Amino acid sequence: MTNSTSRPRFATSFGVIATTVGSAVGLGNIWRFPYETGSNGGAAFLILYIIFVLAIGVPLICAEFIMGRSSRLNIFGAFRTLAPARGRTWAAVGCLGILAAVLILSFYAVVAGWTFEYLAESLTGHLNDFSGPGRHTAFDSFTAGPRCLFWTLIVLAANAAVLLGGVRKGIERVSNILMPILFVLLIALSVNSLFLPGASVGLSFLFRPDFSALTPAAVLSAMGQAFFSLSLGVGTMMIYASYFSSRTPLIRSALTTAALDTLVAILASIMIFPAVFSFGASPEAGPKLVFEVLPDIFAGMPAGSVAAAAFFLLLVLASITSTISMSEIVVAFLIEQWGLRRIPAVAIHTAICALLASLCALSFGPLAHVKIAGFTFFNLFDFATSNILMPIGGCLISIFVGWFIDRSVINTQLAPAPAALIRIITLTLRYIAPAAIAIIFIAGLV
Ligand code: TRP
Repeated sequence: MTNSTSRPRFATSFGVIATTVGSAVGLGNIWRFPYETGSNGGAAFLILYIIFVLAIGVPLICAEFIMGRSSRLNIFGAFRTLAPARGRTWAAVGCLGILAAVLILSFYAVVAGWTFEYLAESLTGHLNDFSGPGRHTAFDSFTAGPRCLFWTLIVLAANAAVLLGGVRKGIERVSNILMPILFVLLIALSVNSLFLPGASVGLSFLFRPDFSALTPAAVLSAMGQAFFSLSLGVGTMMIYASYFSSRTPLIRSALTTAALDTLVAILASIMIFPAVFSFGASPEAGPKLVFEVLPDIFAGMPAGSVAAAAFFLLLVLASITSTISMSEIVVAFLIEQWGLRRIPAVAIHTAICALLASLCALSFGPLAHVKIAGFTFFNLFDFATSNILMPIGGCLISIFVGWFIDRSVINTQLAPAPAALIRIITLTLRYIAPAAIAIIFIAGLV
């Protein structure tokens, strides 16, 4: 096992925020959030989502931060060394997290691949093929074809390249450069959307709540989306916190991460919903939503192809800052528990994910008829991780930090925050988060 002095650390406090926000901000905000919101009634879903982020998300980020920084290990090692007794049983929870991270990357890489395709099409001036009345067939035939698989593998290769650079020169450096540019572009594009004809219909869908749309399944989806968007329940925030300096203020970093992540989700929706209504698309289109609407936005803009290329480039890059975070869980596990060096660790992880991701990429074409419990591979991996593995992982992490970690460890890790705030977070982790997750989880599944 690597000892903590030889372990890498992030170099700067900007790097801490850039990497955690880089992990949180990704396709979850720009692709998944708008379609989940669209299929679950709009504004009411958004309100519920924000409540989950604040009430459960922030305390859970703190819990992962505490485990990561106090153990300075990956999720498996953290559970095993921090558990006073039954380290082995808890380490099994770590295995669950690692499995989830592999499954998430496997479908995430496919969607990231779609953004690569859109980038390539904008650079070659062909994005217009994906806009207008022909957009459904264009998107469907692309995802069913071999290019979809090709781009998925390219994503995994790019991901591996950053991981090979290591914690500071790979993960931190890439996040430091990409995140600020992403914010600027997103603000510009959402302002542009506000000027589309009929933008107000989209905005009122987004901001005027109709609570009758909130079924138990929608509540589970809002929680699943909060987990997904904040990269929770599988050990991402944990592994990043294991690289924090001991002076990084954890609660403040958790709040900043959650706030910026939510801001990006809202900006992405402000950019997308006016366009959805303006171009006559249905907000309930599901995973295709963004990919069918964005080309129309750009087609109608002056210098649209330049904006499109810039946007898809950034989307590609934002997704890479997320894929590296889910991969680092597995890579650090292989390095610290199996004693591998970084290169073979990255190679093994990439090979396994390439296999599983291929199944997901082919789910829109040759494997579309292969259904497990009614789901294609792609939908199965998405559903099983967001709605099952992440909530279970989050619930157990919450219970573990709330009940099994020494109070003094929690207090030292969360210092210098006000005692009352630390108390609220501890109580949430002990009672509120596990109970809420369990209730919503069971009600949503039934
Ligand atoms: N949060 C990222 C997004 O919104 C995705 C992500 C990164 C993730 N790491 C994760 C999701 C770990 C679940 C678990 O795009």
